[in-house]
Amino acid sequence: MSAKTIIITGASRGLGAAIARAAAELGAAVVLNARSAEALEAAAGQIAAAGGTALAVPGDVSRDDDCERLVDAAVSRFGRLDALVNNAGILEPIAPIAEADPQAWQRSWAVNVLGPVLMTRAALPHLRESGGRIVHISSGAANRPVVGWGAYCTTKAALNHLNRVLALEEPTLTTIAVRPGAVDTPMQGVLREKGAAGMTPEEHARFIRRYEEGDLLPPELPGRAIAVLALHAPHEWSGEFLSWDDDAVQALVREATAAR
Ligand SMILES: NC(=O)c1ccc[n+]([C@@H]2O[C@H](COP(=O)([O-])OP(=O)(O)OC[C@H]3O[C@@H](n4cnc5c(N)ncnc54)[C@H](OP(=O)(O)O)[C@@H]3O)[C@@H](O)[C@H]2O)c1
Repeated sequence: MSAKTIIITGASRGLGAAIARAAAELGAAVVLNARSAEALEAAAGQIAAAGGTALAVPGDVSRDDDCERLVDAAVSRFGRLDALVNNAGILEPIAPIAEADPQAWQRSWAVNVLGPVLMTRAALPHLRESGGRIVHISSGAANRPVVGWGAYCTTKAALNHLNRVLALEEPTLTTIAVRPGAVDTPMQGVLREKGAAGMTPEEHARFIRRYEEGDLLPPELPGRAIAVLALHAPHEWSGEFLSWDDDAVQALVREATAAR
């Protein structure tokens, strides 16, 4: 039987690249997407050099035609689709609601919410066939309001609810939203560099302190948990908002790792 095939959006760097590496280590054929073709090829090349199977398909998840092209490329190359990880996301605008640029709000919703909707629609026919899985990369900010993160918080809350609706509408699939924790990625760099303009000084300083004290997670830790969920999550978890370090998730990670 051919290997499971998984699409990961936003996989040129940070958490998405780590999810892709982990999924390849677990034996999946990995299809990586992001806008920057060069960085994406590098991430796919790293997986191939380590003995994995990877395909890079550049594109913007907020564009319907790019999402269709990404799914078509995955299925025509590997003949099947078993999982989709909606990971591509942006933090900005970092500004109070009263001051934020409305166009930046629109972009946030286009990438963080419409993107997962378009990707899900494009992938659904194939995921129904395989009885596949979708993992939406959410955030603790979906439940916790943060000053200056109005766009980000509301898009992640919407993503969690999208996940719940999808679980009802597509009972043959397993669809999960995951909180990856505070991860040491370029997005955290954006927060440190630009956060002072919109966040409270205390909250901004707290993230800088976490970085300086080495308290951010290496992407490999949540990356592995998310890859395992995308390939092996039990159906009864469909519709849930999980944390990467929940006991049940970590038990599944140990089981999947031992089985390799
Ligand atoms: N880092 C954290 O602490 C943290 C915490 C909670 C949740 N998250 C979530 O985890 C996910 C990954 O975050 P990260 O920290 O790894 O961010 P990151 O370092 O900024 O990486 C984001 C990835 O998404 C891609 N991307 C951005 N816009 C895109 C678009 N329109 N179409 C396709 N790809 C796009 C980027 O590549 P291009 O720019 O080349 O397109 C990049 O590969 C996000 O959903 C984020 O909200 C992160």
